[in-house]
Amino acid sequence: MPTTTATLLDTFHDFQPDDQDFLSAVVDGLAAERKSIPSKFFYDEAGSRLFDEICGLAEYYPTRTEMLILEKFKDQMAALAGTHCHLVELGSGSSIKTRTLMQALDRPLGYIPIDISRDHLMQSAQSFSQLFADVPVAAICADYTTAFDLPAIAVGQYVGFYPGSTIGNFTPDEAVVFLQRLKHKLNGGGLLIGVDLIKDTAILNAAYDDARGVTAAFNKNLLVRCNRELGADFELAAFAHRAFYNEAECRIEMHLVSTRAQQVGIADQVFAFAEDETIHTENSYKYSIDGFHTLARRAGLTPVQVWTDPAKLFSVHYLSAG
Ligand code: AVJ
Repeated sequence: MPTTTATLLDTFHDFQPDDQDFLSAVVDGLAAERKSIPSKFFYDEAGSRLFDEICGLAEYYPTRTEMLILEKFKDQMAALAGTHCHLVELGSGSSIKTRTLMQALDRPLGYIPIDISRDHLMQSAQSFSQLFADVPVAAICADYTTAFDLPAIAVGQYVGFYPGSTIGNFTPDEAVVFLQRLKHKLNGGGLLIGVDLIKDTAILNAAYDDARGVTAAFNKNLLVRCNRELGADFELAAFAHRAFYNEAECRIEMHLVSTRAQQVGIADQVFAFAEDETIHTENSYKYSIDGFHTLARRAGLTPVQVWTDPAKLFSVHYLSAG
């Protein structure tokens, strides 16, 4: 049921998931042998604000490093995107990165932000149109991991923009499936994707367990959200933030640890926690450049160019979907 709105957006397509999705994901995740909640549910209003705060932390190197890479190599990226491209942004939370890229593009014909949060989407669309009044915006409110359709284009190519190493939230196998589907949607265009790199464990651990406890608050906000939106009765003081790099799996894992044996009610169900039992709330996979090239090829994408910072903390890849 695509609906057309107001002045500021040229088109607006709404596939926002409903509350039922959150409830069933939480109930299914907590009923499993090893409890988990999908990380995409971090981003309610408070969670998005906490995430923005994480991006400014001294320990959290990905955001500023990717920004430096974009600044330094934006002209090379724009050359690969070509003239008249339509920029498709997956998760439109990163307006500064978009702005930097957009300024470098040669006569872009469209901006297509896709975001699960309607509020976030509207904000990015609005601030975008203020800066780039000539570029039509087609906003899509959707969970980009499931169903969405891109508006048809007559001229130019789609260029996906997937910054932040959000691809790291998928397991490598899931990432291949996701990128395969994205490749088809990009219909011969390209994909600019930020990928965090494997590095010293101490640097990784600090990035996900900062001294000020912002990441801990971000993690625990998931329980706040369950209490508010699902009527759960999580006792916040009885859960602790735990984040560590799992070297064998090449991923950061975030968990919420039950500090004692306890029961938690959600809807009409009760979930028992043993002391030290965890809810696995996020994976953040790290790759080598070669490792990511292999993954991209498995998805049918062709690595064209990769840029990194001098310390090789982070990478940005241009992959061809042709
Ligand atoms: C937005 C998924 C890229 O994995 O680094 C930051 C989320 N979690 N701190 C990441 C996150 C904890 C972030 N991504």
